[in-house]
Amino acid sequence: MPEPPGAAWLGSRRSVVKAFLLTRYGPPEQLRLREVPQPVPEDHEVLVEVRATAVNDWDWCLTRGRPWSYRPLFGLFRPRVRIPGAEVAGRVDAVGSAVGRFEPGDAVYGDISLAGLGGFAEYVCVPETALTRMPRGMSFEEAAAIPHAAMLAAQGLIDLGRIRRGQRILINGAGGGVGTLGVQIARRFDAETTGVDSADKLETLRRAGFDHVIDYRQEDFTESGETYDLVLDTKSSRSPWRILRALNPGGAYVTVGGSTFRLLQTVCLAPLISLLSHKRMQVLALKPNQGLEFIHELFEAGELRCVVDGPYPLTELPQALRHFGEARHKGKVVVTVRPQPRDPHELTGSHEGRAARGGRRAPSSDDGS
Ligand SMILES: NC(=O)c1ccc[n+]([C@@H]2O[C@H](COP(=O)([O-])OP(=O)(O)OC[C@H]3O[C@@H](n4cnc5c(N)ncnc54)[C@H](OP(=O)(O)O)[C@@H]3O)[C@@H](O)[C@H]2O)c1
Repeated sequence: MPEPPGAAWLGSRRSVVKAFLLTRYGPPEQLRLREVPQPVPEDHEVLVEVRATAVNDWDWCLTRGRPWSYRPLFGLFRPRVRIPGAEVAGRVDAVGSAVGRFEPGDAVYGDISLAGLGGFAEYVCVPETALTRMPRGMSFEEAAAIPHAAMLAAQGLIDLGRIRRGQRILINGAGGGVGTLGVQIARRFDAETTGVDSADKLETLRRAGFDHVIDYRQEDFTESGETYDLVLDTKSSRSPWRILRALNPGGAYVTVGGSTFRLLQTVCLAPLISLLSHKRMQVLALKPNQGLEFIHELFEAGELRCVVDGPYPLTELPQALRHFGEARHKGKVVVTVRPQPRDPHELTGSHEGRAARGGRRAPSSDDGS
């Protein structure tokens, strides 16, 4: 195949590569691993050879076309996006003529949810602005687990929540990526941390670093009488008035997701609540990849450990997506796209989900296979 003008290539150009194609809305099992033409980077794009990807709410909602309120975004009758996948970690294979920050061979990762998705594939073209160089010592599986959830947690706790040293922090719906990474960010601020999730996830929460844990099916944190300086919510399911009871004077509530009705209610009531109570309520709009330097700082200081559910082999991606959608996961669901021999970037992460799922792990770079 002739090379496009202006693109610098490292790997050999292939005519076809593998990708999970979404041709219609439906259950995750209808995603099919197919051969597609290898993408070619535009001037400002980087062609990434994907080593690992992670599963997100975006993928679950996009694949099924649910909730219906997302259809104007995804495509009314058929999905506009052909390949889901919002987080990637891999090596730069080629760069477009106007790319200045990367060169072939660089280990990179990023949240590509606002850059066209496409991470459930062996190769994806990504604008260079959506990528960051991986810190040394980070495995591709860890890197895939980080950008989306860590930025939701960091922007929620630091930018909107304005976390301060020694505060009492509660994370509701803490058993996924946001909670298990968020607690480690909160610990950097010497916070006293409480994690809320279902009973079978509480041990994971303790191991991720939470000082206290609550099973939400047994206890409602808004009715216990305990109060917090900052509540970060991934699953807004309660009315803002009830949340208010759990906030200390001057406290803040930041939600990153959950019921659309509750999110709208929070946006509408926030000004009134602030006026009446001097407590803050905010809904986070994620700015992808903004603030990853802080995560690198934690990682390099040995203060950040990814809780990885998996990694699953690429062929099991539909099952991994279902595992996530049915909330059986703990931490981040990660998929190894291309197992590689040991690489200077790759060291062991924490693989929580192996036992929980009782399944097979992908042969990953961590195995040296
Ligand atoms: N703001 C933005 O711009 C933006 C962008 C992208 C994504 N998001 C949202 O950000 C969130 C991402 O968080 P994540 O990836 O950490 O989520 P996650 O992996 O889905 O984890 C959420 C956890 O909450 C638990 N849970 C469910 N219902 C609960 C309840 N009523 N009370 C307490 N816990 C409950 C779930 O476990 P069980 O079901 O077993 O209880 C699960 O362990 C999602 O809501 C996503 O939609 C926001």
